[in-house]
This record gives sequence, structure tokens and C-alpha cells, in this order.
Amino acid sequence: HTQSMIDSYGRKISYLRVSVTDRCDLRCNYCMPKGFKGFEEPAHWLSHAEMARVIGLFVQLGVCKVRLTGGEPLMRKGVADLAARITAMPQVRDLSLSTNATTLARHAASLKEAGVQRLNVSLDSLDAARFAEITGRDVLADVLQGLQAAREVGFAPIKLNCVVNAQTPPDDIEQLLQFTLDNGFILRLIENMPIGSTGQQFQHANLTHMGAVIAQRYHLVPSLDTSDSGPARYWTSGQSGAPVLGVITPMSQHFCETCNRVRLTVDGTLHLCLGQENSVPLGRMLRQGANDAELVAAIKAGIAAKPERHEFNSKRAQVVRFMSQTGG
Ligand code: GTP
Ligand code: 5AD
Ligand code: SF4
Repeated sequence: HTQSMIDSYGRKISYLRVSVTDRCDLRCNYCMPKGFKGFEEPAHWLSHAEMARVIGLFVQLGVCKVRLTGGEPLMRKGVADLAARITAMPQVRDLSLSTNATTLARHAASLKEAGVQRLNVSLDSLDAARFAEITGRDVLADVLQGLQAAREVGFAPIKLNCVVNAQTPPDDIEQLLQFTLDNGFILRLIENMPIGSTGQQFQHANLTHMGAVIAQRYHLVPSLDTSDSGPARYWTSGQSGAPVLGVITPMSQHFCETCNRVRLTVDGTLHLCLGQENSVPLGRMLRQGANDAELVAAIKAGIAAKPERHEFNSKRAQVVRFMSQTGG
């Protein structure tokens, strides 16, 4: 079966990212347009059982890494139950979740119990006013509590995801890095991608350069171990050898040649690339009564048609869906 998860560019697809809701309690300025209300109707949403069925097919085909995303995944009722269904699949060796952590304090223990292995937390500033300006809500304190709770139940190391553009104050990044070092987290700086139209124009920061400058100032060493690093490139602490800083550079130095992932949205649409429109309506097929063999055939056809790369840098290819739908 695993042969069928190799795309036409020779890339092996072993990682499925599942957006379990397109809703979010924040409105990050790079992610959603101001006052956005156009959320999908829950009738189209796959139930946890339907999700688990589709995920199970991917797993039979060779997927061994799954990440739950959103929107904000913790806004989906019973997400820990879904997590438990996924970790019960023996082929899944890594289940992770990306969250904004506003409600993590009350979910951390149940996620750990369900077998979630890793957490990535979005955090763009430790300055409460800046945090509120970026996300539209003054809830930095809740996020910090969420992080603390996650540490206490044993999640380690937690990755902090910080989206950076040319307007990001260097102080924000410096403060986040110090916080990361003090707490044993990993800070990942991410180049802002133009996906959907949030109504805001950001100038892109070149993190290929910025990462190297910061790393030098903090005496960090480039990591040679790229085995499980995905799109990120890391620097390690000279003392402990553990990764502390990473950059994700879709704009200045894309990583599409080594892409190993596809994405499933809450209505069961399979997106083959974050930066392209190609998709397969697995949810609609399932609701129309498709059997497993038919769904598997549609997944294989989708993988065979996975685009070579995103085209964020070209003007003509505007992706119209929002990051909150596809899940980052
Ligand atoms: P780890 O397995 O912990 O390394 O996580 P990850 O990097 O796969 O997941 P995460 O959700 O933390 O991803 C961080 C960010 O990297 C995403 O929000 C996106 O902004 C970006 N990213 C991840 N995958 C892709 C991809 O396939 N293409 C592009 N262009 N960007 C991606
Ligand atoms: N560009 C890059 N990353 C983004 N994210 C959301 N929108 C964008 C964007 N336009 C990231 C957030 C979060 C993850 C779910 O997606 O930082 O970590
Ligand atoms: Fe919500 Fe994440 Fe988008 Fe921020 S980046 S609005 S936390 S989905």
C-alpha cells in the first residue's frame, strides 16, 4: 500500500494535518480578516467517527504522523476523544496538536491522557498590548497559564510558533527567545504567508537572514540533525545541544522538495498543498455513501496530483481560502 503514497515528484506522504474546526476565539491579523463571521455550517462538519474513518484510511496507506489543527482545535467539542481514537491506531507513532493555548489550561491533562505527544503553541508577543493588537483579544495571561499547565502535565519540549513580518518589533522576538530559553521551549519564527486575503498587507521578513543573526548573538549552533525537522531549520544551545530556535521560511527559502504532508479540513476536503487550490472532496463522497475502496482510490488519485510547490511568490496564484480553514 505504501507505494501509493508516493507522489509524482517522488515525495513520500506520511504526515496528515487535520483541521477539526475552522472557528477560532482569536482574530490574528495575518490569519483572519477583521470581523470575520463566514464560518462553515456545522452540518457539513464530519463527526469524530467520520473523521476517524477517513484518518484510518490514510493511516492504512502509510501515514504515521497526524497533527490536529484548526482554527483553534480546542474549540471543537470532544477533541480529546478524537485524539484517543487516533492514538488507538497502532501505525500512528506521532500525534500532535497546534493551539493558541487560550483554553489549554483546562484541556492539557485530557490531551495528555488521550496520548497527544506534542504541542505547538502560537505566540507572537509577550507584551500584553501587542498580543491584543495582533490577536484582537487581551488574553495573553490565559495563554501563559495554558503553557504552564501543559508543562505541568508533562508536555516537553513545547514549540512556540511566532509569525514574523517586516513590521515585527525586534524586541518581541528577543523577549520570546529569552522566555523560551528560561522555560525550555523551542521558538520557531515563521515567515508570514499571503494566504486568503486578511485585508492587511505585510511586508515579508527574510528569516533565513534574521535567524542566522539572532543565532550568532545568542551563541547558538546550527543543528545538523534534520531527520524529523519538517519545514523548520534549527539552532541548538551550545551548552545542552538541544534545539532552541528554528525558522520556517516558506517565502525566502521554500522547502517544497521535501514536503511530506497533506491536509484534511473539517468538512473532509483533502488539500494537497497549503499554497495551491487542488483538493479532493472526501467528505462529500463519504456522505454520498462512498465505500472505503472508493475513498482510497480518491486519496491515491489526489496524492498523484499533488502540486510540485506553492506559488506564494508569484502574483497570479492567490489562494482564496483562509489559513483558519486549512489549518496552517
Ligand atoms: P513539527 O512536526 O512540530 O515540526 O510541526 P510542523 O512544523 O509540521 O507544524 P506546525 O503546525 O507547528 O507548523 C508551523 C507552521 O509552518 C505552519 O503554521 C505553517 O505556517 C508552516 N508550514 C507547515 N507546513 C507547511 C507546508 O507544507 N508548506 C508551507 N508553505 N508552510 C508550512
Ligand atoms: N502565515 C504563516 N503562518 C501562519 N499561521 C497562521 N496564519 C499564517 C500566515 N498567514 C500559523 C500560526 C499558527 C499556525 C496554526 O499557523 O502561527 O502557529
Ligand atoms: Fe486563530 Fe490560529 Fe488563526 Fe490566530 S492563527 S486567528 S489563533 S486560527
